[in-house]
Order: sequence, then C-alpha cells, then structure tokens
Amino acid sequence: MIDDVIKVFRELDSKDLRILQGIELSMKHYEWVPMDELVKFTRLPFSLLEYRIRQLMQKKMVVAVNNPYEGYQIYYDAYDALALNTFVKRGTVSAIGDEIGVGKESVVIEAVKEPALGIGEPQGVIIKFHREGRTSFKSVKRVRSHLDDKEHFSWIYAARLAANREADIMRQLYPDVSVPKLIDNNRHAIVMEVAPGSLLYRTKLEEPELFLGMIIDQLKVTYRKGIIHSDISEYNIFVYDGGVQIIDWPQYVETTHPHADELLGRDVLNVLKYFKRKYSINRDQDEVMAHIKQVQES
Ligand SMILES: Nc1ncnc2c1ncn2[C@@H]1O[C@H](COP(=O)(O)OP(=O)(O)O)[C@@H](O)[C@H]1O
Ligand SMILES: [Mg+2]
Repeated sequence: MIDDVIKVFRELDSKDLRILQGIELSMKHYEWVPMDELVKFTRLPFSLLEYRIRQLMQKKMVVAVNNPYEGYQIYYDAYDALALNTFVKRGTVSAIGDEIGVGKESVVIEAVKEPALGIGEPQGVIIKFHREGRTSFKSVKRVRSHLDDKEHFSWIYAARLAANREADIMRQLYPDVSVPKLIDNNRHAIVMEVAPGSLLYRTKLEEPELFLGMIIDQLKVTYRKGIIHSDISEYNIFVYDGGVQIIDWPQYVETTHPHADELLGRDVLNVLKYFKRKYSINRDQDEVMAHIKQVQES
C-alpha cells in the first residue's frame, strides 16, 4: 500500500536509496542482482550492506533468492520511493498526501509542489505510479527459471514504458485537448495538475446534453490531432462547471492504427451508453462517429 511507501520513504536515508538504485540499475543485466555488484556500486562495507538489505527486505522494498546464488530484486514500493526521491530533488513534489485512486494499472496519490523560488502558494498536484506488468512480476517470481532476458524485467519496463507514453501524449495534447497539465515524469511515475471538478460517474449533471456535447467535442479535437484515447468511460472523464477534462492516456492509439475505427467506436459507445442509461439521452453512434471524423473547414 502507498501509505506504507510514504512511511517507509520518510525512513529511508541516502545509503538505502543508493542500495535501491544499485539494484535497479543492475537489474538491467541480472535477473537477480548479486551481492558483489552491490558492494561495487554502493562502496559500503559488506557487513553494513548486508544489514541494510535485510532491513529493506523487512520493509518489503527488496526481495531475495538464495538459489542458485544470493541475489536481489526491488519491489514496486522501492521503485515508487526512487521516483519520489527524484521528484523531491527536482522540486516538483515537496510533500505527499493521501491515496486517491487505485486502478487496475495505477496507484494515484495527492501531493504538494512548492512554488518556484518560494513565491506564491504551494500547489496541489497528482502523482500517478504506473503498475502495468504487475502480474508478470508475480509470474517472474513463480516461473523465473523459464524466462528469457527481456521477460525478467518486464514489470519495470512495462510500467516505465506506460508512464513515458502517457507523459508524452499529455504533453502533445495539452492545451488543445483538455487534459491535466504535465509537471514531471520519472521512471514509472508522472506528476500532473489536479483535474477540476469530479469524475463523471460520481456526478449528477443538471445539463447532461451540454456535457455530452463537450465530451464529444474533446474526442473530436483529439481525433484531429491524430489520436484516439481508447479507454474512454465515465471513470476517465472529469466534469466541472463549464467544462470537461480527460485523464488516463497510456493506451491511446494513432488514428492510422489498423483498429482505429473500432477503438473510436467503442469510446463513443461507452459515452453514449452511459448518457442513455443515466440521463435517457439517445444519440446515434454512427452520427457521432461521423461528426468526430468530419474534417472541419475553418
Ligand atoms: N489529474 C488527476 N486529478 C484528479 N484525480 C486523478 C487525476 N489522475 C488520476 N486521478 C484519480 O486516480 C484514478 C486512477 O487514475 P487513472 O489515470 O484513471 O488510472 P487507471 O489506469 O488506474 O484507471 C482516477 O479514476 C481518478 O480518481
Ligand atoms: Mg482510469
């Protein structure tokens, strides 16, 4: 749980972080990182290193095997701590708050960013830690002897890849499409602005037609930029007084994708079904699709 991570993060000192970094880096070359590598990387005396690693194992930051040799991997919690440490060093995060969302593929927490040069108010921000590849991490432990080199590290790479992908597309879409502004990106984590208002599924809209129109407009602007979200639903749309904002982008595709129409169709249908169920609004999927894909003359 992220609560533990935060507590543990506050207890970690620079030596612990160095050990975790050493394991992280060496996991590029080793499935299980041998002690020798860590001695070299950290330059800590062997006995101190052993003691620290045992503590990190107790904190569920590091996991070990004894066979065929003694080796180590980091857990997600450690990866979270390393990313947080980088954000704190860069000044994009200065304090950590509560967990606000646990999706299938992410852990999301509130945090605070101090204003630049200490002028102005601290800003509330959101940190999203990606968790793609979590299942394969479990299977890494279960069937590790059968895996080839790439698969060893799939959980780290899958999560890092998804976070980078999400950061890149958010930068590309902002501000033409209404998405949270990206603030920082490191490892498997992104820092972004807090989306305004509340999630669509939690809201009783007084003017549903208006909001449906604004959502379709956002899908259209996104499409004109060559992008389809591909995971649109009432859980990934924020609504606020006068606007909508779309989150959760790592699974986007380009409009040239072979299944582009199918994916856009599914996004549209998810929205239309929701507005039909909750607000009895009937709109034709084909018409909405055609409207989104229509090239506007301006
Ligand atoms: N920028 C944000 N502002 C406010 N809440 C957010 C933001 N990003 C994510 N969340 C919260 O975290 C949850 C999970 O984030 P999301 O990006 O949808 O990841 P997942 O892939 O796990 O669904 C969201 O449903 C929402 O409650
Ligand atoms: Mg989501």
